[in-house]
Amino acid sequence: MQDKLLSWIKPIVNRNSELREEVQYLNVVLGTNLPHGALFDNYRPDAELFLNGPDGVHGVGHSTRVLILTELLSRMYLANNPNSIDIIALREAARFHDMGRIYDSYDSDHGVRGAELYLERSNGHVDSGKVAYLVEWHVPDDKHAPEMIPELAILKDADALDRARVQHKGYGLNPKFLRTKEAKKLIITAEHLFLVSHGLTYVNGSDEYRSVIHAAKAIEIVK
Ligand SMILES: [Fe+2]
Ligand SMILES: [Fe+2]
Repeated sequence: MQDKLLSWIKPIVNRNSELREEVQYLNVVLGTNLPHGALFDNYRPDAELFLNGPDGVHGVGHSTRVLILTELLSRMYLANNPNSIDIIALREAARFHDMGRIYDSYDSDHGVRGAELYLERSNGHVDSGKVAYLVEWHVPDDKHAPEMIPELAILKDADALDRARVQHKGYGLNPKFLRTKEAKKLIITAEHLFLVSHGLTYVNGSDEYRSVIHAAKAIEIVK
């Protein structure tokens, strides 16, 4: 079923010239270094950990898209600035960033809650202090963060790129607020990642994680 759907969707989405342009740019920057879909299974946002439940606009679908967008932005950034950021900490932060929400609407403490949730589960293999910092400070305005380290800019931009999902409610992305030059090259890609993954979930049932991975493969940003 999924393969049939993908063989139908792939040529349609790839006819979009703005999308093609962005994906080609990504391929030029990353070369053969596009991530494998299987990588994300190690960072899959666990449905049962979301305090507000795994569905809705800040649930598994959103977190998985932010995980993939974080990975792409990080790899693009590292291509120009080798060894400059902690990509493992970023993956964990993307996974946990919205798990602490107890409301889908305004919830200014969800970063603090998410950081606590992460620290209760961290296994010591990662820089847990950095992950907690990223999760906590992804919420307030940039000016409140103690330091806008590159990892925080990347996480906040990946989060913002998935605003396509709330565009119809008037909360769409304003590209002028993106912090990194890498994110400005993935705006159309992020819109398609949302549209295709949302469509796959609608047609196929509720495995939002799998839908996002399949969508990323369909638009050729993941191997
Ligand atoms: Fe958040
Ligand atoms: Fe988010």
